[in-house]
Amino acid sequence: MGLFTSTEFHSLEDLLVEQLQDLYDAETRLVDALPKMHDAAESAELKAAFQEHLTETKGQVNRLEKAFDMLGKESSRETCQAMKGLIKEGDEVINASGDPSIKDAALIAAAQRVEHYEIAGYGSARNFALRCGRDDVAELLQQTLDEEGGADKKLTQIAESSVNTRAAHA
Ligand SMILES: [Fe+2]
Ligand SMILES: [Fe+2]
Repeated sequence: MGLFTSTEFHSLEDLLVEQLQDLYDAETRLVDALPKMHDAAESAELKAAFQEHLTETKGQVNRLEKAFDMLGKESSRETCQAMKGLIKEGDEVINASGDPSIKDAALIAAAQRVEHYEIAGYGSARNFALRCGRDDVAELLQQTLDEEGGADKKLTQIAESSVNTRAAHA
């Protein structure tokens, strides 16, 4: 949510649209950030996960555009300060030096913060859509929510099955 803009809420649908604008900004930033995470990763499995989630994220941007359209609104971004901050933290990891396996563990920690933020955002937006009687929009948001949950679980699995073990022995 923008810090210096004054948003007007007159209906739950206004709030839904505002949440979608925040998510639209966040996802657009992630389309730029994920290739850098991919390039910084050492583990082939982690690289593949970032690549796969980049493809999903591009589809999520399209879904949000579809949701705006369904609500009769123009697709517009509202600066997501939280995602800007999370990506900045990710950049610190990307630019860090030292042991690559520990860096991989740090990349996963940064990426999971992003996924959890998205899960919170899409969960709220989906519930607002349902309350507005917009099951069509809610269904679209649920698809993305499922992908974010899947990405988060995949990252946990990579951390637990290989990356954290390697990092512990670095
Ligand atoms: Fe996303
Ligand atoms: Fe995501």
